[in-house]
Amino acid sequence: MEVFEAIRTRRSIRNYEQKPVEEGKVRKVLEAARLAPSAGNRQPWRFIVITDPKVKEKLREAKEKRMPPHIRPPSRGGPLSAPVIIVGCAVPSDSFPGTDFWKIDVAIALQNLVLAAWEEELGTCWIGVFHEEEEVKGILGIPKEAHVVAMIALGYPAERKGPVTDRKPLEEIVRYNHW
Ligand SMILES: Cc1cc2nc3c(=O)[nH]c(=O)nc-3n(C[C@H](O)[C@H](O)[C@H](O)COP(=O)(O)O)c2cc1C
Repeated sequence: MEVFEAIRTRRSIRNYEQKPVEEGKVRKVLEAARLAPSAGNRQPWRFIVITDPKVKEKLREAKEKRMPPHIRPPSRGGPLSAPVIIVGCAVPSDSFPGTDFWKIDVAIALQNLVLAAWEEELGTCWIGVFHEEEEVKGILGIPKEAHVVAMIALGYPAERKGPVTDRKPLEEIVRYNHW
């Protein structure tokens, strides 16, 4: 699949087939993350691959607890029901000194992973984890000096979606030579 075609057709998948993802495919998407650029090539990222249903359930509970009842995720389905969750972490002290580029670095690596997954016919969904970071760190044994930047749900899609359409037009978001 061409890169632009992957960008155009990738969508957030929130319902997954409950079949495992082949180890070779998991390694391939992690390799795509590994090859991402980072400030000063410092590669401050660490990735935790979660396949254990018990660990996923703990993450789901942590996310649910922090949400007001009216926007709580469904107890079945939703991104945390994916067979694999990849937790994108950063070690800021490994990052380009005096900056918080570690957030950007991990985000770039995760989006590489997302696009590589789509080429492998695997769906993904970004999961923002900022509110429950301390809880997620506790569940996963992530040390103090590391941060969770985001998680990515990964698995075979159990839903079909058309290509991306709901974006602002270029005319609204692009300026030439000055704001
Ligand atoms: C940083 C970030 C955090 C996100 N967090 C969540 C999340 O917690 N739960 C969720 O269902 N989707 C989450 N999303 C997915 C967005 O809602 C989705 O990308 C957006 O609505 C556009 O839809 P599309 O990905 O299908 O094109 C997140 C996306 C990004 C980039």
